[in-house]
Amino acid sequence: VAYTIVVAAGTFGDVAVEQEAAGPRARVTLADLATPQDVAVGTAGADAVVVTNNPLSADHLRAFAATVRVIGRAGVGLDAIDLETAAAQRLAVYHLPDYATHEVATHAVALILASHRRLLEGDRVARTRWHDWRAIGEIAPIEEQTVGLIGCGRIGRAVARRLEPLAGRILVFDPYAEEIPAPAERAGTLEELLAQSDVVSLHLPWVPGDLPLLGRRELELLKPGAIVINVSRGGLIDQDALAELLAAGTVGGAGLDVLVEEPPPTGTPILSAPRTLLSPHVGWYSVAAEPRARRQVVEGVLTLLEGGRPPFGRIAVER
Ligand SMILES: NC(=O)c1ccc[n+]([C@@H]2O[C@H](COP(=O)([O-])OP(=O)(O)OC[C@H]3O[C@@H](n4cnc5c(N)ncnc54)[C@H](O)[C@@H]3O)[C@@H](O)[C@H]2O)c1
Repeated sequence: VAYTIVVAAGTFGDVAVEQEAAGPRARVTLADLATPQDVAVGTAGADAVVVTNNPLSADHLRAFAATVRVIGRAGVGLDAIDLETAAAQRLAVYHLPDYATHEVATHAVALILASHRRLLEGDRVARTRWHDWRAIGEIAPIEEQTVGLIGCGRIGRAVARRLEPLAGRILVFDPYAEEIPAPAERAGTLEELLAQSDVVSLHLPWVPGDLPLLGRRELELLKPGAIVINVSRGGLIDQDALAELLAAGTVGGAGLDVLVEEPPPTGTPILSAPRTLLSPHVGWYSVAAEPRARRQVVEGVLTLLEGGRPPFGRIAVER
């Protein structure tokens, strides 16, 4: 066996898929990499480390064994990895920007439709007081409504395509996108999008240190009763302000696959906010996307260790 790949314990319970993908080229082991101390022990003798959302701060990265050359991220977002320190430590960072685009886009649309059709409230009423259906609240026809998408990259575009036959109008704010695919229309400013949308869905990256894109001021610019959807990163929204505005009824509903802290500590205000539908950061998941990520990250990491260029994925930090 030429190499040792250490997979950080967390999202996936074992390394069966990773070991099968590596075959005889590498030995794959599972290790707890929660603290820098864990990292020092867990990475001893490893050539590469594979993570999901495991935080790799500067302290974690400085604790890496000197033998490690590559970090593989079995997923899209790089917000949990201190990329500057990785570069300074001569660690390549490799990730998979498009392994689950369809899954995440479908999940966003599921949250949009469930929030819009008030399925949470409907479920509750159906179980307890069927005839009191008006307690669910008012539902506007979505074909007369505007859905605002912030971010028009891979996932934002896939959401726009799925919404085409459903929404009255699709507005998109992305100052870096050269083209907004019709029939979606470009919003000139974030403020314009917030003021005109009945549903706002976030499809852009976030890294620690970024201010929330939707702070209290931006949330207060929303139309009364607007719905907020986030399948990107918790830090994009001032979560406590959102919880307050939901409680006050100013914001009409929220569908959140991602939170500021995951899992959320007991007592986190958003957990008791009304009309709020949560999922445990599973937008990426399908029975196809999971093995796809686990296999591709191992194949990519091995190709890099062998001096090649992986045919899929992206090298975010070169060594
Ligand atoms: N919930 C999940 O399981 C899951 C899975 C995969 C990805 N994600 C998240 O989804 C995010 C988007 O993924 P993607 O593949 O579409 O990325 P992408 O890079 O293809 O697209 C991001 C888009 O955001 C735009 N953007 C950047 N800053 C902006 C700003 N301030 N305002 C408006 N637009 C801005 C960019 O121009 C780009 O078009 C990822 O960064 C990740 O955090 C979540």
